[in-house]
Amino acid sequence: MTPTNDTGGRDPHLAFARRMDRSDGLAHFRRRFVGTQPTGGEPPIAAYFDGNSLGRPTIASVERIQNFFTEAWGTRLIRGWDDEWMQLPVTIGDSLARATLGAAEGQTFVGDSTTVMLYKFARAAVDSRLDRSSTEMSRTEIVLDTDNFPTDRFVLEGIAAERGMTLRWIDSDPTAGVTPRQVAAAVGPQTALVLLSHVAYRSGFLADVPEITRIAHDAGALVLWDLCHSVGSVPIELDRWGVDLAVGCTYKYLNGGPGSPAFGYVRGDIQDLLTQPVHGWMGTTDAFAMDAEYVPARGIRRFMSGTPAIVGMLAMQDTIAMIEDCGIDAVRAKSVALTEFALALADEWLVPLGATIASPRDAARRGGHLTINHPAMREVTTLLWKQDVLPDYREPNGLRIGLSPLSTSFEEAYRGLVAVRDTLHEVLLRQSGLAR
Ligand SMILES: Cc1ncc(COP(=O)(O)O)c(C=O)c1O
Repeated sequence: MTPTNDTGGRDPHLAFARRMDRSDGLAHFRRRFVGTQPTGGEPPIAAYFDGNSLGRPTIASVERIQNFFTEAWGTRLIRGWDDEWMQLPVTIGDSLARATLGAAEGQTFVGDSTTVMLYKFARAAVDSRLDRSSTEMSRTEIVLDTDNFPTDRFVLEGIAAERGMTLRWIDSDPTAGVTPRQVAAAVGPQTALVLLSHVAYRSGFLADVPEITRIAHDAGALVLWDLCHSVGSVPIELDRWGVDLAVGCTYKYLNGGPGSPAFGYVRGDIQDLLTQPVHGWMGTTDAFAMDAEYVPARGIRRFMSGTPAIVGMLAMQDTIAMIEDCGIDAVRAKSVALTEFALALADEWLVPLGATIASPRDAARRGGHLTINHPAMREVTTLLWKQDVLPDYREPNGLRIGLSPLSTSFEEAYRGLVAVRDTLHEVLLRQSGLAR
């Protein structure tokens, strides 16, 4: 979709953006987010391009959290655990699975951080393979890629050191991502686990989950997918794709708030074959039996460890409800339209200033964000933040533009990119000594 002329506005791109907003079936959701409408005479923030890193709060969540403090916690006190809280990690997990993961009940829960969940799942997966290493099946390798998010790499380095395993690195292209062909070349009878990201945090590359999962399974390995940058923006079909394990953040497109707990998915038929390493009372059959020994619960609860972070998992429910209401396919359609629009503006305005597009041009291989590289982007980002235009900066030279479909308007995307263009121009003029 390329911006076209519109006699209704002086700037054809702005006119296009306004037309897109008028015909956008999801536009009404934007009003449900804090800070998108003028308040007390203050205009809303100029452009928020970081909903893929920390989503905006919803107005419904403000009320939900307030009610929680005054009612559920304030009046029910410790009875709240029996009322609802003990079940909440799996209740929310099931609704998240239904709305965003293409997963049936009983396979998803909310708890721990993504980092901790990655550790627990990866250790459980490799241990299940290593148990058989005394026989002919010696699976001593973990496959990962060089450009995955640092925590994923660090966690696996720790596990490899702990278990005496070998890491087999796929050298991934930072402006693209991991291909099925690369995975096929890396896996073999020695592979215990493959860990990859569905959407690459830097480039936004969208990996081919079903094909890569099939390749790993053909080699007899388990696959753990990091869904942090795809959940809530890209359709996911965990059950249909045969995925073994998955984890993801809830503070990005799910608007759970800073540090809201992650979700974890474990395919139903392998749950009781896996034992995770953090043996806590909440993962046992009956936490309050206060047993002498750790006996893991059957099913998804065995992947829990300690007291669930109830306050932290409240807000995500309002976004899950919105996605369930409109459907993830509609969210994806808007996401693609937003990134296509931003890409067209970047090509027209930023590439002539020396920027390069560090994200896939093919929408089918791109998630919900775009990265634009230029040596001046670190300085540009600092200046943009001072103007209430909030993109992310990612080394080495990347300005990352996250376009959260439920809360971002086309006009907001337009205004943000105008600011990026003008600021980059200004910085380049200053660097060349021509600025006033
Ligand atoms: C792709 C990816 N994986 C893992 C993480 C780590 O999540 P946490 O810090 O919540 O453990 C992040 C955080 O942004 C991420 O983007």
